[in-house]
Amino acid sequence: MNSLPSQETQLPHIPVMVDEVLTYLSINPNGVYVDGTVGAGGHSKHILNQLSPAGTLVGFDRDQEALDIAKKTLSASPSRIKLACASYHTFPTFLRNEGIPSVNGFLLDLGLSSMQLNDASRGFAFSKSGPLDMRFDQTAELDAESLINYSSEEELANIIYEFGEERLSRRIARSIAQKRPISTVDDLYDAVRSATPPQHRNKSLARVFQAFRIAVNQELEKIESFLAHFMDSLTVGGRIVIMSYHSLEDRMVKHSFKSLKQAGVLKVLTKKPIMASKEEIEINPRSRSAKLRAAERII
Ligand SMILES: C[S@@+](CC[C@H](N)C(=O)[O-])C[C@H]1O[C@@H](n2cnc3c(N)ncnc32)[C@H](O)[C@@H]1O
Repeated sequence: MNSLPSQETQLPHIPVMVDEVLTYLSINPNGVYVDGTVGAGGHSKHILNQLSPAGTLVGFDRDQEALDIAKKTLSASPSRIKLACASYHTFPTFLRNEGIPSVNGFLLDLGLSSMQLNDASRGFAFSKSGPLDMRFDQTAELDAESLINYSSEEELANIIYEFGEERLSRRIARSIAQKRPISTVDDLYDAVRSATPPQHRNKSLARVFQAFRIAVNQELEKIESFLAHFMDSLTVGGRIVIMSYHSLEDRMVKHSFKSLKQAGVLKVLTKKPIMASKEEIEINPRSRSAKLRAAERII
């Protein structure tokens, strides 16, 4: 991709690697496509552009605010659209209830959107003062404030180490535990600041915030459940495309595709993960950490 159309850069979230996603999905115009992380509807809109009125798009997002935006983005399409405020891993029940027996393509664009990151009231960004929320689903019981205040110091350290891959995890967990109660983004920022050297502090902050987001939303469990079930609904010749922004997620996708390949049911289309071009990264820095993997069901 050499440049993005201007309507794309005006979206509240710029979709990543659109050309690559569409190439690997290889859309059947009359098919059924599941966008498991519909967000602002950026990728879904492009999928719909390639579907005929007989085609169907099913979109999931845990965030009702995102779905409300997606509804507007996608409203002009003549194809069938079904949007659900639910986690993508619940797709088997949704498809069964809708009488949809199989799917021609799945797309997951994991992580969080720019809309969520830029909204101070959601608590995802360490650079924006606000409440410590971090829930994708704002009706979910557990938010970051409860997780951080009610977990043991050891549990905090494990979350920071495992999901944030931060080597100063124990020091940071100790600082958080000593400064509790932690009620706001600024409180968490201060606890991390006093446990980290200034040179790499922003990286540590990003890792700690990412770690708590993953834990609050149980993101890895959702991917694991999805990967265990997508083959049950994918038609022969159907495609799956997953973009991840975290090495743990990418590893899970890689291993799942590999074992399905060894079982002789899946052809992996991306030997190595596809990364965004230099030009795209310049326009949309968020695309820098994206890794795209794609595969096709062969029997
Ligand atoms: C990177 S954004 C997707 C952006 C979208 N592709 C677009 O072009 O606008 C990721 C979205 O996935 C949603 N999400 C995260 N975990 C989810 C889950 N388990 N089920 C459904 N949606 C989820 C987030 O709320 C967020 O809106």
